[in-house]
Formats: sequence, C-alpha cells, structure tokens
Amino acid sequence: MNQLQLFLPCAAGVEDYLAPEVLRITGLPPGCVTKQRGGVAVRTSLAHAMLLNLHSRLAQRVLVLLSFTEYRNEQDLYRAASEVAWERWFTPRESIKVEVTAQHSPLTSLNFAALKIKDAVCDRFRVTAGGVRPDVNTQWPDVRIYTHLSTDSCSLYIDTSGEPLFKRGWREDKGDAPLKETLAAAMLAASGWADGDADLLPLYDPCCGSGTIVIEAAQIACNIAPGSLRRFAFEKYLPFRRAEWDAIKKEAKDAEVLREPGQKPLIFGSDVAHRMVDFAQRNAQRAGVADVIEFRGGDALQRMPPIDIPGVMLLNPPYGERIEVAGVAKGAGHAGRQFDEEDAQAGRFGARELPQTQEGGEFFSQLASHWKKNYPGWSAWILTPDLKLPGKMRLKEARRVPMWNGPIECRLFRFDMVKGSARAI
Ligand SMILES: C[S@@+](CC[C@H](N)C(=O)[O-])C[C@H]1O[C@@H](n2cnc3c(N)ncnc32)[C@H](O)[C@@H]1O
Repeated sequence: MNQLQLFLPCAAGVEDYLAPEVLRITGLPPGCVTKQRGGVAVRTSLAHAMLLNLHSRLAQRVLVLLSFTEYRNEQDLYRAASEVAWERWFTPRESIKVEVTAQHSPLTSLNFAALKIKDAVCDRFRVTAGGVRPDVNTQWPDVRIYTHLSTDSCSLYIDTSGEPLFKRGWREDKGDAPLKETLAAAMLAASGWADGDADLLPLYDPCCGSGTIVIEAAQIACNIAPGSLRRFAFEKYLPFRRAEWDAIKKEAKDAEVLREPGQKPLIFGSDVAHRMVDFAQRNAQRAGVADVIEFRGGDALQRMPPIDIPGVMLLNPPYGERIEVAGVAKGAGHAGRQFDEEDAQAGRFGARELPQTQEGGEFFSQLASHWKKNYPGWSAWILTPDLKLPGKMRLKEARRVPMWNGPIECRLFRFDMVKGSARAI
C-alpha cells in the first residue's frame, strides 16, 4: 500500500487550487501531483490517502486507482474488474455499490456496464472467499467502486471517503440553498484570503444563509481539519491500521489554534432572515467555531461594516425565484424565471446574461451604492451565475474566476471598493 495512484475529483476549475492543497497537506514534491480535468492525480501511500480525507477542503473524494485498461465492450469491463484483487481491500461481509461515469464511451448502457462490473467483483469473491459474495447496497454501501470510461480506456477505483467530502459532519440546519462546503472553500481559495503568513484580514458574508462560507473560513483560521467530525470508508478496509489513523487525528487535533480569551472575532456573518442566522449559529457551534464568528441579523443594503478595518466580503447572494431577495429591495418588481431544480437535474448550465429584472437589478445597484459609500477599502467577492452582474452594479470587476455551483456555471467576481467612488464603469 506504499505506492498507490490516487485521484481526487473536484469541481471543474478547482484543480488549480486543489493541486497546491494536496502538496501542502502531504508535503510531497510537486512531481508526485498531476492536474487533470476535474481532479488531481497523486502518486503516494495509503497514509496520505487518510491524511487527504481528513484535511482536504476542495476534493470531492479520495479514490485509489486499482486498474487502468483498454476496453471495447462490457466483456472487457468484466475481465478488467475480475483481475483486481478486491479481497486485499475488503471482505464479502461489506456491501458494495458500483458507479459508472463516461465520456465519449461507445457503450449504450452505463447501467449494464455497472452490472457487469458488479458481477465480476462478486464472482471473484465467490472464488477467493469460498462461495461467499458481497451484497449490493445502493444507499449506504460500505464500499463504493467507481468506474470511469473514456472512448477506449476503463479506470477502476475504490473510494476511500464514503460520504462525499463536502459533508463535513457539522451541517444539520440547511436553509433553502446552502452552498456546498467544497465550493465555499474554493471561493476562499480563489480569493487568497488565507494565503501567506500575514495576519488574516476581516472576512464578512452579508448574505450568510446557513453560514457555510464563514464556517469554512473560521475552521481555516483555527486550523480545524474539515474531516475531524466524520467517519470515512477506509476505516472498514482491510489495510486500515487504527493506531496509524488515531495518530494522524491526534496530530491534527493538537495543531488546532485555540482562540485567546477576549480576542475579538474577525469573521462576521449576517442575513436578513433571522431563521437563517439561527441555523448558521447552530452549525458554527457543531463545527467548533461559534466563538470565532459574530453573527447578526439584518439587510445587506443597510448593514454597516462589522469592524473598523477594511477586509474581504465573500458571498453568494440571492438570485432568481428560488432564493429571493428580501429586505428593503423586496417588492420592487418580479424576478424572471432563472434557475430551478429541474434545470439543475436536466444538466449543466452556462453562466448567462440574466435579464435586468427590476428586483435583482434594483438589489444589486443598491448594494453597490451602499458599499461604495460605506465600505471603502473592502474587496467584495460575489459568486453568481449572472454575467451581467458588474453592469447591474455599475462596477468594473478586478477579477472574474469561472466556477461551477453544481450544474450551474458561475463567475466569482471581485470588486474593489475604492474610497468615495469605487471603480465605477
Ligand atoms: C444563496 S443564499 C446564501 C446561502 C449561504 N451561502 C449558505 O451557505 O447557506 C442567499 C441568502 O441571502 C439572504 N438574503 C436575501 N436578501 C437579503 C438581504 N437583503 N440582505 C441580507 N441577506 C439577504 C437569504 O435569506 C439567503 O439566506
């Protein structure tokens, strides 16, 4: 288990932040890490796979590549899966689930491909474990087997994470449209807020909802490992060594940075919905950072800076019918239909030029005026699917970073509030 090929999938566009994160967590030389589309490959050990599960904020999972072969049909997939020594990883007492993704595969049914791979795994156990085979459990499997098919190659992976890594274990209160923790972490990485050795700038999310962005930020500030509250699939695998894992967790716990008594928080969240502020507070408590974040209720169009030194705002504001603007801008008009669950299930969406609805337009132009007047020296990073946002805010963006919010293509815009006027267009 000392030389494994890992693959850490991530949202498209996040590879540039994930690769340095992997190097930072593992201390490996850059040659061991390769950026690929939709993830990062790492040549390393199982101990590093455990470390990455515990510490990565950006990866969706940590997979171990067990086979890479050419294929032309389902029979080739069956053969590839029967040649993998699954019995070195788990016993037939563990339940399994096979998932297949494909890009330009000639096969007509991915379900049938998954069935063939499942058959191969079970048949191999029948031989190696004296007739006993693992059960399939599609909801809560002990072992997830991932297959990725390209035009002519098949990669078989065993998943070491279990539940996807964005599930940190602190979220019970969701709100209407929580941001995935991995995306909040990608926004923080893109903003560079935690880069370097300099003291952290104040961080403020004025539309904080259930608190994802500020909780991720606070855990970074306190050096709390994102996986410290959850379990992982590798804990049930045969190569797992409890003592080694306990030592990794203890080292992470010892490295946490405790807040000095009386130290003022530098991380702030507010939301117009008091219910959301309650959710955020409870989530922060479970994440171990309640006393590092100051939460308030209030309309983003009226809230003054939470601290008298300029800092960074980071937010995914309300858009469309699903997440309506509330507060003083509410009722100025009707939002046009923008994105909804059905859209999301149907596929991916490119960032768009959303119509200049009175409500959305009104909210963002008022927000920009409020910030120009009251937030000189602050930078605001806004995640939005709306390519027209800078125009609506009458601000020239200093940066635009492509990001995906699930199936929705977004931009993370940075606006710098220059004293008095900001960089108006
Ligand atoms: C897309 S959600 C943010 C989700 C959040 N990042 C999370 O992880 O849960 C937008 C939030 O903006 C809030 N909101 C709507 N209008 C607002 C306003 N005028 N001022 C402050 N917050 C507002 C909503 O209550 C909602 O919680």
